[in-house]
Amino acid sequence: MKIGVFDSGLGGLLIAKAIRTRFPDLDMLYFGDTLHLPYGNRSPEAIYEYAHRAIDYMFAHECRLIIVACNTVSATALRKLQQQYLPVSPWPDRRILGVVVPTLETAIERGHKKIGLLGTNHTVRSDIYRQELQKLDPEISITQNAAPLLVPMIENDGLEWISPILEYYLQPLASADCECIILGCTHYALLQDAIQNFIGRDKTIISQDRIIPEKLADYLMRHPEIMKDISHSGQARYIVSDLTESYMKAASDLYGGSITIERKE
Ligand code: DGL
Repeated sequence: MKIGVFDSGLGGLLIAKAIRTRFPDLDMLYFGDTLHLPYGNRSPEAIYEYAHRAIDYMFAHECRLIIVACNTVSATALRKLQQQYLPVSPWPDRRILGVVVPTLETAIERGHKKIGLLGTNHTVRSDIYRQELQKLDPEISITQNAAPLLVPMIENDGLEWISPILEYYLQPLASADCECIILGCTHYALLQDAIQNFIGRDKTIISQDRIIPEKLADYLMRHPEIMKDISHSGQARYIVSDLTESYMKAASDLYGGSITIERKE
């Protein structure tokens, strides 16, 4: 069986790449639902429906556990998928993991007291980061800002024009004197340098591609019954629901040219 990594599009490839680097021998399946991207501006019903179909597909392709790299899905549909879908699915012993709690745990472990969050419309409106933070440590504050233009710009080769827009979105977080900025969307990992330049070197960026592999290692150590089911033949498959030339180019830029992407049949 395999580890699954699910995202709506491109950014999750960075998390998949980081997981692959951390566990080169574990079999992995990446699925990007590029046909329905961007999730961040869709209705909650549509996000649940797309995520549900993607998870079904990945379980049918032998994923033992699925990491939902997409923050929008983690914020909008994860609980329902875990609590309502999974127990009555044909695969009740499989697992679906999100990225919100591990990300907040990292911010807390690093001692931050004022957290900033940049996310999609849905992630910010869902208020999931604040709600989960409240449970973990109610003393810590979080300032959130939605950045709906960033994903379409990244997906459409628009990085050249991104600076003023990025600054506009980051300004409220800087004004709130946030000590760290959580990149609450898989795509924003591609903007790390630009964001660091704007917020300054004394502030920290928490990017999920840097933390999820270690959190996964910790999870697998605590769950040997899952680890023993995952094959160690080092195979990785990358499947998307719609494959375009620009996606292929962006993906091979991220992977340094060595990635074969398949279109879902
Ligand atoms: N992957 C999504 C996330 O992490 C953002 C991209 C989208 O809007 O589909 O929130």
